[in-house]
Amino acid sequence: MAARRLGAALIAAALLAALVGPVASQQGSGGGILCLGGWVRPVPILGRLACPGGLVPSPRTFVRPGPSPSGPGLRVGYYTSCPSAEAVVRKVVRDAIAKEPGMGAGLIRLFFHDCFVRGCDASVLLTNTTGSSADAEMFGPPNKESLRGFGVIDAAKAAVEAACPGVVSCADIVAFAARDASSALSRGRISFAMPAGRLDGRVSLASETTEFLPGPFSDLATLEAKFAAKGLGTRDMVTLSGAHSVGHARCMFVSTRPSFNATLAGELSRECRGGGNATVDQDYKTPDVLDSQYYRNVRDNDVLFDSDAALENSTETAALVGTYAADLGSRWETAFAAAMVKMGNIDVKTRPGADAEIRKKCSIYN
Ligand code: HEM
Ligand SMILES: *[C@@H]1O[C@H](CO)[C@@H](O)[C@H](O)[C@H]1NC(C)=O
Ligand SMILES: *[C@@H]1O[C@H](CO)[C@@H](O)[C@H](O)[C@H]1NC(C)=O
Ligand SMILES: *[C@@H]1O[C@H](CO)[C@@H](O)[C@H](O)[C@H]1NC(C)=O
Ligand SMILES: *[C@@H]1O[C@H](CO)[C@@H](O)[C@H](O)[C@H]1NC(C)=O
Repeated sequence: MAARRLGAALIAAALLAALVGPVASQQGSGGGILCLGGWVRPVPILGRLACPGGLVPSPRTFVRPGPSPSGPGLRVGYYTSCPSAEAVVRKVVRDAIAKEPGMGAGLIRLFFHDCFVRGCDASVLLTNTTGSSADAEMFGPPNKESLRGFGVIDAAKAAVEAACPGVVSCADIVAFAARDASSALSRGRISFAMPAGRLDGRVSLASETTEFLPGPFSDLATLEAKFAAKGLGTRDMVTLSGAHSVGHARCMFVSTRPSFNATLAGELSRECRGGGNATVDQDYKTPDVLDSQYYRNVRDNDVLFDSDAALENSTETAALVGTYAADLGSRWETAFAAAMVKMGNIDVKTRPGADAEIRKKCSIYN
């Protein structure tokens, strides 16, 4: 059955290729078109790349580059009024990862998706937004049926509330959890202090997710622009992308670039017989270890996304990929820790007010 469907799909693809001619080989997203912010694969239609399903291509102009985020008001060891807070979160995170390593990857990604949309304010955890019936971030295309770790954050919040009610924000718990997951998945090689003092936001909009989060069908210029909009540089972008050495991805996002390691691509397409929602490991070599293997995978064309492969598309990014790929010390680990702290500074809210509070429950504003 599956084989017949696959056969039919291959014939359809071959027919399409014959129809559209040379453009069909213009794979990846270097063709210059961005669909739903890079979250939807462009398709060749009548000799040109277009967005499927009547989607209008996303604009290529982004918010202008912002200043490097300094995280005013954040401090290491912030919770003097709840000295056990960080240890309590660490224990919950370690237990969750011991049961399921994928939760660690989920927690690292949760932090990224929180910080890039309305700053690191736990807006990604809200099921609803204030003053509107619009869908919250967690229902946006990059997040829906994809983000994991919400249960771990809820458990950590419950444990912290039991120790010190009303003191520790959900935004800081997300940041601590991402730090602790990085430490656990790197077997302790990535270990760093995470400044805290973030407050929780009250607004969360699904429509902002595809606008600010770079998608897997993005080209290098788009990736750089979306990081620059948050005050992060190209080096931060390359360094943080190393998080793709853990966790999984849905088959619908896997690249069809001709340069993809053909053996690996063949293995992936077998693992993807379950369809676009089936998942595959991001790092085929050490899937549960947060390490610099990602950069060797980029260099060897073993990475899943066009956006990963795009790191070879400029001399600046390719050079950094080469440096991390060749390093047997801890250059990447050290840089990753610093970049996570920097990402954690994005648009933080530190003054209580109409838009900032310490939530009682992470999924709903007070
Ligand atoms: C550079 C631009 C980036 C793009 C285009 C991108 C894209 C993606 C996509 C498409 C997935 C798979 C999602 C799914 O299948 O539903 C994914 C997974 C993941 N991403 Fe990224 N990402 C980027 C940067 C980052 C950053 C900066 C981090 C964290 C520092 C990160 C951490 C992760 C992790 C850990 C996973 C696996 C999640 C899991 O297993 O649950 N990514 N990313
Ligand atoms: C990277 O560059 C190659 C070769 O110029 C191009 O085919 C590809 O589309 C580019 N990919 C991205 C994601 O920019
Ligand atoms: C919040 O969002 C959830 C999920 O979208 C919905 O089921 C629920 O009714 C909403 N609750 C409130 C108080 O609006
Ligand atoms: C290509 O993929 C295969 C199968 O996963 C792997 O054994 C091989 O080392 C890869 N080649 C390179 C150059 O990474
Ligand atoms: C993936 O799952 C979602 C939700 O269950 C479903 O709506 C969608 O059609 C599935 N997509 C594919 C490609 O199978």
